Amino acid sequence: MQNIKAYVNEHKERFLNELIELLKVPSISADSAYKNDVLKAAEIVADELKKAGCDLVEICETNGYPIVYGEKIIDKKLPTVLVYGHYDVQPPDPLDLWDSPPFEPVIKSTETHPEGAIFARGACDDKGQMYMHVKALEYMTTNNQLPCNVKFMIEGEEEVGSNSLVDYVKKNQEKLSNDVILISDTGMIAQDVPSITTGLRGLSYVEVEVIGPNRDLHSGLYGGAVANPINILSKMIASLHDENNHITIPGFYDNVEVLSSEERAEMAKAPFSLEAYKQALDMNDVYGEKGYTTNERNSIRPTLDVNGIWGGYTGEGAKTVIASKAYAKISMRLVPGQDWKKITALFKTHFENIAPNAVKVNVTPHHGGQGYVTPTDSIGYQAASFAYKDTFGKTPIPQRSGGSIPIVALFEEALNSKSILMGFGLDSDAIHSPNEHFGIFNYLKGIETIPLFYKYYTQLNKV
Ligand code: BES
Ligand code: MN
Ligand code: MN
Repeated sequence: MQNIKAYVNEHKERFLNELIELLKVPSISADSAYKNDVLKAAEIVADELKKAGCDLVEICETNGYPIVYGEKIIDKKLPTVLVYGHYDVQPPDPLDLWDSPPFEPVIKSTETHPEGAIFARGACDDKGQMYMHVKALEYMTTNNQLPCNVKFMIEGEEEVGSNSLVDYVKKNQEKLSNDVILISDTGMIAQDVPSITTGLRGLSYVEVEVIGPNRDLHSGLYGGAVANPINILSKMIASLHDENNHITIPGFYDNVEVLSSEERAEMAKAPFSLEAYKQALDMNDVYGEKGYTTNERNSIRPTLDVNGIWGGYTGEGAKTVIASKAYAKISMRLVPGQDWKKITALFKTHFENIAPNAVKVNVTPHHGGQGYVTPTDSIGYQAASFAYKDTFGKTPIPQRSGGSIPIVALFEEALNSKSILMGFGLDSDAIHSPNEHFGIFNYLKGIETIPLFYKYYTQLNKV
């Protein structure tokens, strides 16, 4: 029997190489051209779960991409940890901004990652973080250190809204029954500042279409006399925030959870440098809702952002034209208290109401989901906290994140258990951006920390 530190040290080359093989597969769920690669990633995950010691592994077919399920049940009387993660990745574009090809992983060191980081799409979100759990299982099974039951549920549609997983979870409540859900698909504050994510924002994602004249027109012959859908869309979008950067949709803030000044003061204790934040993004200043700090703006407050906007002529040179149609994709990040379906409906009504008579508008909802907050006094949180304390030498700071994993709220509803979000990525790891990477230090620390979670969780359950 080896302790986890020694085991990681002995096997780290292989742990890295295995992850690199998985990262070579372009499992882009959003793009159907990569269908076979997404399926291939699922097979790799299934094979690796078997090798790591699962007694039962299944590739569960769905209407979309399969869900990889694995389990090792050692004693029905012991607690069960359900691990969730995803093997799909975001599209890598814009490709020309990558320093090396997104699916040809390379290891390079950076200022934040002097030990080196693996650069590849999905390195941090979420293949690298998901794979830490596979390797932690390998350690526990080969060293007789698995103290409880474990189930794995790794999906391939997280980046496109987890549609198939919603049905799967609802239909398999018995099979997925567990005492706690463990997820590494978020981040931590810094290499030397461990943190546990205690909240995720909800999401409502919509697409809007503004239709003017029935065809593209000469901007001289018609300009000034007809509605230009791009002008109008821009105006409508601009009106969605007021001068204080509050969102103007009636009812939008109705049920927003308001934090007490004590809670806000507690949040403000987390180490944060506004100067470093601005510098890292090369911005003269930050920007956002009046009355809130940067960390509040990106975690406990709801937002509305245009993610893409298009229409008219965008090719080389100039073309004098008034487009017939203009489009935008808009995301709203939501906080506890806000119901994503209600918010989507409020947006639609408001957007239709503010459109001038001269245009038609269509609002198409895409996906969405509820926000999530996990308590810090649960056994699961305590176990995670002790685990980090052992490996980082510091008690982790609870921190609410601005990102979304919409399925987590459904886990609580359908499976009646809390999710513990043990993220090991950094905000600077560039998830969803060019040059995504994951620190080798973070990867190996994750593998070291996870078995301790199992140990403490099982111990705390006995008392
Ligand atoms: N892993 C991220 C979410 C995340 C990252 C949460 C960092 C907290 C910290 C996840 O893969 C993701 O990208 N979620 C999407 C939503 C989804 C419905 C596409 C998001 O947050 O935009
Ligand atoms: Mn993710
Ligand atoms: Mn993601």
